[in-house]
Amino acid sequence: VEEVPVKVASILKTSCYDCHSNNTNYPWYQNITPVNYYLAEHINDGKKHLNFSEWENLSTSKKHHALKEILEEIEAKKMPLKSYLLLHQQAKLSATDIQTLKNWIDKNLN
Ligand code: HEC
Repeated sequence: VEEVPVKVASILKTSCYDCHSNNTNYPWYQNITPVNYYLAEHINDGKKHLNFSEWENLSTSKKHHALKEILEEIEAKKMPLKSYLLLHQQAKLSATDIQTLKNWIDKNLN
């Protein structure tokens, strides 16, 4: 698995990092607590499943597995979570974003 290209990294940062990295951008959601404990829990929970901050440390086979899961989630439009998009609209993946991610994943799985 090669380096993550800048374009891909920037999509992941905007749409996934709050829940899937150690770089959660807290300020926006601290303002809305206690409205959404449910969402806060998702932010913490997401990292247990996939943490991009630890990407470098994954073995190739674990990266492959993660890429397949990312592909599944974005194709099914399950990620980013809908509850999160309500508050964080810029995280919504455009058709182009999805295509960029898919191209990157395909390239790395083949
Ligand atoms: C609001 C928080 C949140 C955001 C934003 C988010 N996720 Fe998730 N993600 C979760 C949670 C919580 C889970 C685990 C529970 C579930 O599957 O619903 C999860 C699970 C996953 C899984 C499944 C891992 C497994 O072990 O099955 C993948 C893959 C994933 N997310 C990818 C992404 C990608 C790619 C993005 C950005 C496009 C993204 N997520 C954005 C919270 C989030």
